[in-house]
Amino acid sequence: MKKAFLLLLALVLVISFIACRGNDKEKNSNNLTNSSANNEGLIVVGFSQVGAESDWRLANTKSMRETFNKENGYRLILKDAQQKLENQISAIRGFIEQKVDYIVFAPVTEEGWDDVLKEAKAAGIPVIIVDRMINTKDDSLYTCWVGSDFRKEGETAVAWMETTFKDKASLKIVHLQGSLGSSAQIGRTEGLLAGVERNSGWEVVYRASGNFTQVKGKEVMEHVLKQHNRIDVLYCENDNMAFGAMEAMEVAKKTYGVNGDIKIISFDATHAGLDATLKGKINYNVECNPLHGPRVEAIIQQLERGEKLDKLAYVEEEAFDAATITQAVIDARAY
Ligand code: AHR
Repeated sequence: MKKAFLLLLALVLVISFIACRGNDKEKNSNNLTNSSANNEGLIVVGFSQVGAESDWRLANTKSMRETFNKENGYRLILKDAQQKLENQISAIRGFIEQKVDYIVFAPVTEEGWDDVLKEAKAAGIPVIIVDRMINTKDDSLYTCWVGSDFRKEGETAVAWMETTFKDKASLKIVHLQGSLGSSAQIGRTEGLLAGVERNSGWEVVYRASGNFTQVKGKEVMEHVLKQHNRIDVLYCENDNMAFGAMEAMEVAKKTYGVNGDIKIISFDATHAGLDATLKGKINYNVECNPLHGPRVEAIIQQLERGEKLDKLAYVEEEAFDAATITQAVIDARAY
């Protein structure tokens, strides 16, 4: 009886051992399936995104996700850098280790890229920069770039200010900047600085970064309103910071927009931003187009076909005045 029991026990152990090995095998073959995505003919794209700081950024991530999926022949590895350069650098190093087919990244700042891009170049992986730009002396470190002309966006806003306020002897401006060191901040700031230089009556009474977020935009504006009684213009480097600033102005019982004291200039022209423009809360909104997924895909397809492409490609952008915008413009907006 005891012998039979021991035999049965041994049998149970052998069966469970075989079953476990079977599971391991299954797990391994799942891993293989994933890592052999290349062999299935998928193009593997590693995308290092800045973060999720604004509506613009969310629309940009959505555009990339919708483009680089299995149905279209891609496997996307998306890494959110949470607005930190070091996170982007380690994401790109990870892509190199994984031997992706293409590295795509939206740089959080312009500086700090040469070393990691040298590593990508040594690994023979094409690098596509999207949205913002980097500052490097060696443009062989990236294959190409597609994005916005941020300086032009700033100049567009300033041209509107020059026309709108031409009869005003003096203009007190609050300047809410985006994330310092990013191309979007640098270009939009340069545009305003050039305007201030040209217009002797213009004065920037306060300048600070709101890091492109609504929360920080509100916080900075709360602080400004405690210090300055007269503000004519809020030059705000994105829609989300403008929303935050509006919240602060409402609490402080300050009027703004078309019928208020503080005129607002904003950037991005997202759906919500244009809605605020139509309602007269934002006076002028300069577009920054986030729909880069199809643009990056077109570049990859050209590279796949071995075609030559332009090193730099600027996206066409518009601007919207509260006096002329219509609901139809907003309805036609994809972001
Ligand atoms: O680089 C584009 C900028 O980044 C957008 O204006 C801003 O909203 C975003 O976070």
